[in-house]
This record gives sequence, structure tokens and C-alpha cells, in this order.
Amino acid sequence: MEKIMIIDMPNHVGETVKIGAWLANKRSSGKIAFLQLRDGSGFVQGVVVKSEVDEDIFATAKAMPQETSMYVIGEVTKDERSSFGYELQVKGIEVIQEAVDYPITPKEHGVEFLMDNRHLWLRSRKQHAIMKVRNEIIRSTYEFFNDQGFVKVDPPILTGSAPEGTSELFHTKYFDEDAYLSQSGQLYMEAAAMALGKVFSFGPTFRAEKSKTRRHLIEFWMIEPEMAFTEHEESLKVQEEYVSYIVQSVLKNCKLELERLERDTSKLENIKAPFPRITYDEAIEFLHEKGFDDIQWGDDFGSPHETAIAESYDKPVFIVNYPIGIKPFYMQPHPERDDVVLCADLIAPEGYGEIIGGSERIYDYNLMKQRIEEHGLDEKAYAWYLDLSRQGAVPHSGFGLGLERTVAWISGAEHVRESIPFPRLLNRLYP
Ligand code: 4AD
Ligand code: MG
Repeated sequence: MEKIMIIDMPNHVGETVKIGAWLANKRSSGKIAFLQLRDGSGFVQGVVVKSEVDEDIFATAKAMPQETSMYVIGEVTKDERSSFGYELQVKGIEVIQEAVDYPITPKEHGVEFLMDNRHLWLRSRKQHAIMKVRNEIIRSTYEFFNDQGFVKVDPPILTGSAPEGTSELFHTKYFDEDAYLSQSGQLYMEAAAMALGKVFSFGPTFRAEKSKTRRHLIEFWMIEPEMAFTEHEESLKVQEEYVSYIVQSVLKNCKLELERLERDTSKLENIKAPFPRITYDEAIEFLHEKGFDDIQWGDDFGSPHETAIAESYDKPVFIVNYPIGIKPFYMQPHPERDDVVLCADLIAPEGYGEIIGGSERIYDYNLMKQRIEEHGLDEKAYAWYLDLSRQGAVPHSGFGLGLERTVAWISGAEHVRESIPFPRLLNRLYP
């Protein structure tokens, strides 16, 4: 008898198969038991009919607690009523282990309780669906950039520099030296772009941010493409094509998951390039019209501002040309204005906030040297980076997409803590 995964059941209708499974939930009467089985690949209902199995199998099915692990033997049948479309007519059950007081029952639980039990919470239907959406975003990211001729490059995690400012660094000792956990691989990706043309990274980044919001993680994953001979406007095109590609891939390949998440997919179907663009100046004007008196030209946006701006669009929106004073040292100044830089943040719809930050980079040696000094950065730590701007430097641009915010948006999860398997949050290092 063939051992299969639940996801492959459509190819085995009418056959008797074996699956390894856990009991997610069950319902039973005197004559029939309905087992909600899961095996990681999917969920399926197992039907145990008392008159058709040995007495002890029916007794086992009725008695076993939630999350019991087992092998199940049964015949795959079609079932039009379930969204999966298939069922298992159970013939045999071989229990591997009965779970002890499984804490996450089908009733409602508080967030802190669920977070304390994250190692188990991951098994629930909604969390399973979010992880599958995350996986599809990762898969389609590799597909998109490989198809476009980008080379995957892995920047270091232990670094001596801090591209996004020094206030949010995780400090550690590197033998006798000081080191920091990477907050962005960008500077290394710029070096790599000069070697390989178009590159992208995908890796963990760390920010010791004291923010406790639904958009902030201490450890998050970032996709950072960097492109030589590329101006800012060309980079925006890559960004909108990329984001459209991952949204359309999830719509195509995660139908069951989006249904389980009760995601309004009509809002996602519309996500196709091009995306609208507004300038920072226009955004400030718009916010003043909307009655936000708390923000002045030169301030950074907070989430209420981003949400208000995003509400006017049914697609992600680029806010371009931010004031030089609130952006990192490496951004290329605007050719006609010295108070703004060639950059953009991409704001997701539905209140999910900034999912991409990107810019054109300075490649003039003297300007770069001046900006490093102005920002009070350690010239020794940045010597190799500064060196790039005198070794055949070219216009280049790049961006960073935050994976968890993107997963939260596409899957409709209300908080980024649900879009990473084991979230690192302020005051939470376990499980
Ligand atoms: O805007 P950020 O800070 O940009 C950079 O790090 C650039 N060096 C990227 C580049 O140009 N190569 O971060 C990029 C994205 C944000 O738009 C956001 O989606 C995500 O990373 N992000 C976070 N996600 C979760 N938790 C946090 N604390 C985040 N901080 C940034
Ligand atoms: Mg940013």
C-alpha cells in the first residue's frame, strides 16, 4: 500500500492509501466519527463508520485526544462539500502517540497564551495557511529574480557597519572587536552589483527597535535587490513588477490557503503594475488637507499617516523624494533640488504600511566622503564602501522588501507576529 501526503490525494481517488497524520479536531456519534486530520501538507476529513471497521478501531477513533499522532489507512473518495474536495474512508488506525493536555483547543485563546505556545500554535489551520503563503512569496521571489537575470548573493550577518543608522543596533563582541548583527545587507549588495550586475539577497536582518506595533519585529527577513547602471525610475519599475508577481503567484498557487484565511481576494486581484506615485511634498499637502496638523515638512511619517495616504488607492503607492534629513547617508540627491533625495517607500494598501524602502545610491567619491563625515560615521568602518565610489563607480539603485509585512498584507494577518514562524519581539525571545 502506498504511503502518500494529503495534498496528493486527488491523484489517488478510489485507492486505499496510508497517511501519517495528527488529529486536529473530531466529532462523533454512536455510529460515525469524523476526524479532522492534518499531515503538514494539508487537512482532510477521515470518516470512521462503526459498522465498517473493527470494534477497537472505532473505539480508538472516538477516544483519542486532539493532536494524537497516527498512521491511517483508508480509501480516498471525492467529497464535493469540503473545500479540499476529498475525504478518507478510514479502514484502520495505528496510534503512534496520544498528546497530553494539548493546550490549543478549537475555542478562542488570548494572544499572549498563543504566543507562549507558538511551537504548537503553528499547527493550527490559520497559521498553517500563513506559512504556506510565506513560502509561496519566497518561492516566487526566487523565480522572479532568477528569470530577470539576477544573481543571489549572501551578505554577512556579522558586520562592522550600520547602514540604516546607529540607534537600533544589536551589539556583540567579535573576539577583540565590536560587531553588530546586520540591519541591512545593502552596502555589501552594492559591492556585489559591481561584480555581478544585478543581484538580490534574502536573509535575516536585526533591529533593536523599541517599537511595539503590529508592523515591527526585532528579527525580520529582507529581500534586497541591487542593480548596476540603473536609475531610480528604473528601479521603481522592477519594484512594481516584483510586488505584482508575488501577489499574482499567491493568488494562483494558494487558493485553499486564502480561502481558509477568509482573505478578500478581490483586493489582491487588482495588484498589477504600474503603481501610483506621489511625492513626499504632495503627501504632506494631502495630510494637511485631511486634518493631520501634527506633521510638518521634514518629519517622517508614522503609521496613521501612511494608512491615510494608502486609503486613497486600491494598489500599493510609492511616496518618492523624501527630505534628505530623514533618510540614510547613501541616497543620491535629487538633480534639481538639494533638500530631497531620489528614493521611494512603497506603502501597502489596507493599513499594512511601508513594505519597501529603496533609492538610487551616491556614486560620486567626494559627495560620498562628505556624507559619511556629515553623518558622523566611523571612516575606518566605511573605508571599503567609500572605496567602491572610486573604482569604476556607476549609477546604481536598489531596494529592500520586508518579508513579514508583505506576508501579513497578502494573507490578511493583523499582526506581523503571525507572519514569521518564531517571532522575536520586544520582550519575547521564547519559544
Ligand atoms: O526601509 P528600510 O530600513 O530599508 C533598508 O534597510 C534599505 N537598506 C533597503 C535597501 O535599499 N536595500 O527597510 C526595508 C524594509 C521596510 O520597508 C520594511 O518592509 C522592512 O524592511 N522593515 C521591517 N519589517 C519588520 N520589522 C521591522 N522592524 C522592520 N524594519 C524595516
Ligand atoms: Mg524605510
